Amino acid sequence: MSSNGPCDWPQKCTYEEARAHFVATLLGFGIEQQEARCEADLALQHVTKLAAHELLLNAKTRLPDADSQALAAILEKRRKRVPLQYVLGETYFCGLKFAVGPGVLIPRGDTETLVLAASEFIKGRDISTSLLEVGAGSGAIVVTLLKLFPQLVATAFEISPQAAHFCRVNAICHGVAERLTLIEDDYLEGLAKLAPSNRFDLFLSNPPYIPIDVAAGLAPEVIGHEPRLALVAGVDGLGFYRNFAKLLPGLEATAHAALMVEFGDGQGESLTDLFGESGWCDLHILSDLGGRPRVLTSSGCR
Ligand SMILES: C[S@@+](CC[C@H](N)C(=O)[O-])C[C@H]1O[C@@H](n2cnc3c(N)ncnc32)[C@H](O)[C@@H]1O
Repeated sequence: MSSNGPCDWPQKCTYEEARAHFVATLLGFGIEQQEARCEADLALQHVTKLAAHELLLNAKTRLPDADSQALAAILEKRRKRVPLQYVLGETYFCGLKFAVGPGVLIPRGDTETLVLAASEFIKGRDISTSLLEVGAGSGAIVVTLLKLFPQLVATAFEISPQAAHFCRVNAICHGVAERLTLIEDDYLEGLAKLAPSNRFDLFLSNPPYIPIDVAAGLAPEVIGHEPRLALVAGVDGLGFYRNFAKLLPGLEATAHAALMVEFGDGQGESLTDLFGESGWCDLHILSDLGGRPRVLTSSGCR
């Protein structure tokens, strides 16, 4: 690692100098400035075990050599464009820490819109709620909801053994594993095997929805490292929803069961038609915090 800035990197650097070096190195890899700054803060907090304000207070303090070496090792992995969350083995979603690593999708901030919509639905009920999630990944959605609502029980399908492993770990870490039935199977096979006694109030999914030709243009961190199975769904990105919409009518649901699915850019209208044709009504589209249409909801009647 060549020297960069006033300190003799990776030795004899203050926290402030180490941060500047980290940012400059990421910029050199082609990572955009705001992302580089954010990653530098996360990496420093992870390595030093100090909170953001403690790092600021100690800006002029010399960083222990072991910590500089740990930062240098992180930068080596980022040079290969391994996502920072995989390197650190963790990320945050809805304010909760989730274990992540190769084989599982890194939960995205956009998905908090789906969690918010589901929370409103669950809050509005005065009895216990049973939800079904298809494609649990790290458990970001289902574990967050179970943590928020002690009266909630959930069944979740996940086809990838690596992703199911992370989901299990996260459910245990957040103390909700007893209320989660995680089925490590293709939902196309598994849904038909569910006992009729499973009646659901809420159907959720953030499925793979990226069209094949769009996938090629994704950031190297995404297309080179995150699981394709979690991202790509056929030529128009709607393959997963078509199958899901077909299977849903065969499932046991309570009288006012709701459906909520996340979708990608430009897919809202097609999805409204698709689920409308499957008998779902009162269909609404919610936008994410960036103002982009992101979640289709239906409150019942099918
Ligand atoms: C976009 S990721 C969402 C993960 C997580 N729910 C989240 O929001 O971060 C979609 C997930 O669906 C899973 N998946 C894809 N096809 C599946 C199938 N046929 N049956 C069950 N899970 C599937 C993928 O492995 C992946 O974990």
